[in-house]
Formats: sequence, C-alpha cells, structure tokens
Amino acid sequence: MKVRTFSTKELASVYVAAIVENLIQTHPSPVIGLATGSSPVDLYRHLAHFCHQGLSFAQVTTVNLDEYVGVPAHHPQSYHRFMDDHLFRFIDVPPDQIFIPDGTASDLQAACEQFDEILERHPIDLQILGLGHNGHIGFNEPGLALATGTHVTALSPETIAANARFFASPAEVPTHAITMGVQSILRAKKIILLAFGEDKAEAVQRSISGQISTDVPASILQVHPDVTFVLDKLAAALLGGEAVCTWG
Ligand code: F6R
Repeated sequence: MKVRTFSTKELASVYVAAIVENLIQTHPSPVIGLATGSSPVDLYRHLAHFCHQGLSFAQVTTVNLDEYVGVPAHHPQSYHRFMDDHLFRFIDVPPDQIFIPDGTASDLQAACEQFDEILERHPIDLQILGLGHNGHIGFNEPGLALATGTHVTALSPETIAANARFFASPAEVPTHAITMGVQSILRAKKIILLAFGEDKAEAVQRSISGQISTDVPASILQVHPDVTFVLDKLAAALLGGEAVCTWG
C-alpha cells in the first residue's frame, strides 16, 4: 500500500488527475471506475479542464461504484445526476461507454447480475475510491461480507438521516443502494483512494495500519498489490511513517 500526502486536497487532486491523464494517453481503451461524493469533485474538475484543453475521453469506459435504489437518474440527488453535473457533461466520453448501477430496475437482483457482467466485459484499469467515516468503500458498510459482487445494501440509519435534507419528503429518502462489491473493487488493476479532512483521519489510520476486518471495509485494500491512498495532511494526521509527504 502506498500513501501520498499533500498539504492540500487541491494539490492531491492535481496529482491524481495527472495519473488519470497519463492512463488515458497511454492505454488504447482504459476502463476507469468512478466514485461520487465530495472527495473526487476537484479531480473531476481537473479532468473536465484537461478535456477542454484537448484530452479526449472517446476511448474511455467508465463504471460507477453505486447508486441509490428508487431514485431516478434525473433526480437532483441521484448519483447519475452527480456524475453528469461534475464530469460527464464536460467530457467527450460516449454515453454508451458510461455504466452506473440501475437503482430503479424492477428486478434489482437481475440489475446486480447485469452490472457484474459489465464489469467482466470491462475489467477496471484504475478505480477511484472515496472513504466513508466508518471505513466504507462504495456502499460496502462495516460488518458486511467482504467477498461480494454487485449487491443491494441497506443504508445505515445515520446515512438515511443525513440524506433527509436533500429530499422533499421523508418517503423519498432512499433506504437502500446498489453497490459494486468489495470483490469487484479488488479486481481493479490499480486503486487510488482519496481522503481529505481531519474527519477522515481515524478511518484512514484504521484502513492502513489496522487489522484487516469487516469492521473497516477499506482495510481489505491492504491485500491489493497496487493501492495508493492520496491524502491531505489533515486526513494523514494519525499516520506515522506511512505518511510519505509528496508535495508541500
Ligand atoms: C460514493 C461512494 C462512497 C463515498 C464515501 C466518501 O460513490 O462510493 O463510498 O466515496 O462515502 O464520501 P465523501 O467523498 O463525500 O466524503
């Protein structure tokens, strides 16, 4: 496991954007796994800028980690919409090369199996991850089985409560999500996890230096041969010698 620590999340995001750019320039048809949430927003802004400057995403395929169940793609809080708003509308990736789990499928089990087939057809070259405060990756929450493919998972009461403000009524707040499993994430050739801010420091420390345990899903990344945690100094605050400072 490698750790790269930067003075700010802006610098960290530039570093990761350069890695993604290099992959796109050197691989004939790269598959990139994407996350939603606040952590990759700066990265996506840089990638949009690179595209504006001439970097083409025409040969790129993207697969997203997760989506809420029952929230339609056009809903302002859907992860489909998040990806459109932060990245897809700014780059030239063809729509038929974008894959996001379908949380509105009438048969969710079948939708999970279809997503696993998509992942079989498009093995991930680089997976971008964020990190939950509880150590989750995707919506693989603590205590769940680590050897899973795409599946439907119940959101924790804390997540449901935190999301309530984004929805018009309590009935609309999603209670479940469809998520890529840990097993699928581990199949990616290369994984970069982004974590910023002091509120992530404990989860970072437990993921990197703690025992591999279902209590901290990201700790399973310790078994992967090519994982880099890209941190700002706040998120790295509880690390010792692992916190290699790259810049700033
Ligand atoms: C989102 C996802 C989640 C987030 C994590 C961190 O697609 O899979 O695991 O990456 O909850 O979220 P932020 O970046 O908002 O702190």
